[in-house]
Amino acid sequence: MRNSVLSLLASALLCSQQSEAHLARAPGGVPGPPSNRWVRRLWDGAQYDCKCFPGDSCWPTTQQWQKLNTTVGGNLIVSTPPAASCYNTFQGPLGNINTYDAAKCAEVTANFPSEQFQIELPTAGLWTYFTNDTCRPTTNPADTCTNGYYPVLAIMAKTTAHIQEGVKFAKKYNLRLIIRNTGHDFLGRSVGWGALVINTHSFQSVKVTNNWDGKTPKGYKGPAITVGAGVQAQKALQTLHALNPPKIMVTGECITVGIAGGLVQGGGHGPLTNQQGFLADTALEFKVITADGQLKTANERVNSDLFWALRGGGPASFAVIVEASYKVFNDQASTGAVLDITTTNNTLFWQGVTAFHSRANYFVENGLYVYYEMFAPVQLRVQPFVAIGKTPAQLAAILKPLFDDLDNLGVPYTTSTQTFSTFYDLYLAMFEGEVAGNSALTGGWTMAKSDVANNHPAIIEAFKTVLNNGAFMVGHMWNGGEGLPQSEWANSAVNPRFRAVSDKIITILPIGGDAPLSAKAEAQNRLTNIVDGALRAASPNGAAYINEADPFQPNWQTAFWGTNYPRLLSLRQKWDPEGVFYAVSTPGTEKWEQIEYGTRLCKKL
Ligand SMILES: Cc1cc2nc3c(=O)[nH]c(=O)nc-3n(C[C@H](O)[C@H](O)[C@H](O)COP(=O)(O)OP(=O)(O)OC[C@H]3O[C@@H](n4cnc5c(N)ncnc54)[C@H](O)[C@@H]3O)c2cc1C
Ligand SMILES: *[C@@H]1O[C@H](CO)[C@@H](O)[C@H](O)[C@H]1NC(C)=O
Ligand SMILES: *[C@@H]1O[C@H](CO)[C@@H](O)[C@H](O)[C@H]1NC(C)=O
Ligand SMILES: *[C@@H]1O[C@H](CO)[C@@H](O)[C@H](O)[C@H]1NC(C)=O
Repeated sequence: MRNSVLSLLASALLCSQQSEAHLARAPGGVPGPPSNRWVRRLWDGAQYDCKCFPGDSCWPTTQQWQKLNTTVGGNLIVSTPPAASCYNTFQGPLGNINTYDAAKCAEVTANFPSEQFQIELPTAGLWTYFTNDTCRPTTNPADTCTNGYYPVLAIMAKTTAHIQEGVKFAKKYNLRLIIRNTGHDFLGRSVGWGALVINTHSFQSVKVTNNWDGKTPKGYKGPAITVGAGVQAQKALQTLHALNPPKIMVTGECITVGIAGGLVQGGGHGPLTNQQGFLADTALEFKVITADGQLKTANERVNSDLFWALRGGGPASFAVIVEASYKVFNDQASTGAVLDITTTNNTLFWQGVTAFHSRANYFVENGLYVYYEMFAPVQLRVQPFVAIGKTPAQLAAILKPLFDDLDNLGVPYTTSTQTFSTFYDLYLAMFEGEVAGNSALTGGWTMAKSDVANNHPAIIEAFKTVLNNGAFMVGHMWNGGEGLPQSEWANSAVNPRFRAVSDKIITILPIGGDAPLSAKAEAQNRLTNIVDGALRAASPNGAAYINEADPFQPNWQTAFWGTNYPRLLSLRQKWDPEGVFYAVSTPGTEKWEQIEYGTRLCKKL
């Protein structure tokens, strides 16, 4: 069985090779020496050197895959799309195989919107657009299920050595490698056509200490948490909450996101960001596997340049994190409030939005974190305003000018307030759960305080443009580490502009991953140039957040990293000179593209 699975895979063609005629051999021949396993392709009039994909002669042989499987303890699996069981057959890397299983199909159909269900699948992407949506749950088993942009094989890593072997194998055979943690990624970075996955979900260790060793950063002897790569916010927060007194750490607003994978490497903002900065600001140390397969420590003393880059410099770019240590803090009594504005009177609605949003600087400077969503035609939902360490009376005093304005304008709204003995309790009670299985393009921009103060009418006009062009918005108001000494900011690769913003906005443009190519191109253009274009124009001093933005925006280097970009570029060249890792629009990927309709990952010559 094992033999036949792998030999089929070794010989199968993933897509029709109609461009075989264009396929030239890289200098030195393919398969050549391991360092020269490039497949030359012509695409759109340009030449590319591509990684090795199924069907290429440089794709590893059955024996080589078997050897890898042995070195990773038998944890190599062939990936199938989550909903393959709803179809009679699945046309994938193993050829055309029978997959229908009514019970499994019922389970996957019922659970497709469940984040945790999808997180535990080996290769699923929670936002499905970048899987190409070629195999969604269906009631018609005769429909076609293909692999789309799901990866083809996955190492379900259980040990650090498995990750090392996976990285070395991908490097040796020049395979497209994807590190997959929870699969939350909005930008499609945890899936990829023809790729080998290293899945880190099994790394679930959590250790807490009250006395960090004080060596790095120098003098820090406070409480800390050390987590394995797969740990999600929920587990870490539960552990910290059980301590006496209860403790807390910086996480995203969503309890299911991983805290040692993409979040910290993008920066990681959340409800504690006013007080403690980004998750990256609180990092003490990482254990990582570098692109040469070596296990290394990175902190302020050892490999300090790598430590800096891992803190916000871009996911899947510098190393694979296997373990991360962070500062933790005493939790505090906290108060939250919600606000809903819905009115069919358009004028009144935008007056209400203006009363709310023009106070973005005011809210964050008074210590609030504010999460809101805005939908066309006229719905604003703020859930919640978060006031850490504040009483209901203190929160009411901060919100009073807003409510006075709404009352004077006659804007209809509903509101309520709740108070809790810890922020953790508020987090569980007041943030709404989120769902998986949606397909959309994600964009976004962050509003600078200076533009909120000086250019707010233009920001409101930009919001109208967003909602009038088929998108909706998710806003996150925070002060990027206002409560921290500025010296602590300088130690992370997060865009320095994030220290002077007050609203990090995500734009979401729903579109099926199976939409016609022309519709996809139109939607991407609308997102980049109209929807996000309006936000960029309204806040020229703003920035973009690598985990929640359009990777295809102009000048992404500056948008994502500002003045930190040149250093990140040179560190990428130092730590991953051959491009073993890849995630779209991360430092040093200027020449990389997914050509041939988003399939082959290649370097433009
Ligand atoms: C519902 C939802 C809410 C969110 N809320 C917030 C929020 O409040 N604040 C915020 O900052 N972000 C938020 N995000 C965005 C989040 O930061 C990104 O989706 C992030 O990439 C998730 O990381 P992950 O490791 O959980 O997911 P994955 O999708 O598995 O990985 C994301 C990226 O990180 C890479 N990666 C994963 N693990 C490793 C590793 N061990 N070593 C190296 N690279 C790795 C992957 O290759 C990929 O490029 C949210 C996303 C969603 C879907
Ligand atoms: C890897 O080995 C395990 C254990 O022998 C086996 O169950 C599995 O099918 C193998 N993987 C592949 C892709 O053949
Ligand atoms: C991806 O989807 C597009 C339609 O949006 C389709 O034309 C293309 O063939 C698909 N590619 C793969 C590999 O699934
Ligand atoms: C909508 O609200 C505006 C502003 O308060 C008001 O002037 C206008 O009369 C309202 N329109 C309707 C149809 O109620």
